[in-house]
Amino acid sequence: MLFNKNKDVIGLDIGSSSIKLVELAAGKNGYRLKHFRIMPLPPEAIVDGSIMDSGVVVDSIRELISLEEVKTKNVAISVCGHSVIVKKIKLPLMTEDELEESIQWEAEQYIPFDISDVNLDVEILGMDEGEEDVGEMEVLLVAAKKDMIHDHTSVLEEAGLKPQIVDIDAFCIENMFEENYSGFNEGVVVLVNIGSNITNVNVLEGGVSAFTRDISIGGSQFTEEIQKQLNVSYDEAEALKIGGDLGAPTETTEAVIPQEVGSIIRSVSEGIAAEIQRSLDFYSATSNEEKINKLYLMGGSSRIPGLPAVIEGKIGVPSEIVNPFNNIEIDERDFNISHISEVAPAAAVAVGLALRKIGDS
Ligand SMILES: Nc1ncnc2c1ncn2[C@@H]1O[C@H](COP(=O)(O)OP(=O)(O)OP(=O)(O)O)[C@@H](O)[C@H]1O
Ligand SMILES: [Mg+2]
Repeated sequence: MLFNKNKDVIGLDIGSSSIKLVELAAGKNGYRLKHFRIMPLPPEAIVDGSIMDSGVVVDSIRELISLEEVKTKNVAISVCGHSVIVKKIKLPLMTEDELEESIQWEAEQYIPFDISDVNLDVEILGMDEGEEDVGEMEVLLVAAKKDMIHDHTSVLEEAGLKPQIVDIDAFCIENMFEENYSGFNEGVVVLVNIGSNITNVNVLEGGVSAFTRDISIGGSQFTEEIQKQLNVSYDEAEALKIGGDLGAPTETTEAVIPQEVGSIIRSVSEGIAAEIQRSLDFYSATSNEEKINKLYLMGGSSRIPGLPAVIEGKIGVPSEIVNPFNNIEIDERDFNISHISEVAPAAAVAVGLALRKIGDS
């Protein structure tokens, strides 16, 4: 349509440990960073991708918007976890209109929820004429629980924003990766976004997603284990995990020696690596591709010292920590570059969201 210009959006990643805001603008050779900020959330505000305390979330979003003086009202958010199902299915050849009409019926057998409780989205991935006359096509089916989407969109509306796009974490990191890494379509690579409660896995074969999975593991496991084993508060455990300064020793922290923290981090890392391996075993069982070339790690928990090495060792594939701003211009007059490069891995989903335009399919 004439004058149907794509409109810009703010990317807002509402994670269980923090909300990440990214806005991009046109740069000299691509994109330039316009706004970026991370606002921490208390541990109980969001659990397993569900908003438990919407008041806290609304206030944090309002604060983010006002601190950054963001003008754009249009927002892209994403959802993940148990309330989201992504499946590739085979269906008889049909037109897009026919697919739209029949998908409610077709989806029923693939979705473990009542079909009236989910929002469905479909995308035709490819046609296969097949050996016989009856052709088939491969379709990507995405279902997300309506109540979860409703919870997310209502906090945005309450914060005075307009939710325009609801994406899926695993697709956001794929978008982000495609924009930032020129070799994104070479061979088989695995994107692993290790957050606080959820880890998103997306296996790309030649730049196309072949397998996605959300695993209920992440950085909070380290914190909880340190808290439990060393009998310290959650905040103290979190500080011990990231190696931060605990201040003057208190009765509880005095006895804590870094060696103990190190061994807890190692054992939780082993568990996380084993879970990622299990997902990749599942992928390998359903794919013809032989070899995974590389692991790209991101998410706040990719910064846990030693975790990347443990994952690399377990999977037996080299890894790299992703910089979601790799191809994005950042003006050092507007941003603290060294701070950004430290926290960048946690911005993966938010950058993927900020790359979306209203009017995208
Ligand atoms: N420097 C650091 N060292 C170790 N861990 C860190 C560091 N910085 C952040 N983390 C951990 O990263 C996690 C947060 O990562 P991220 O922001 O990607 O998660 P989230 O999006 O909030 O959560 P989720 O996606 O699981 O809902 C927390 O567990 C936090 O403790
Ligand atoms: Mg996250």
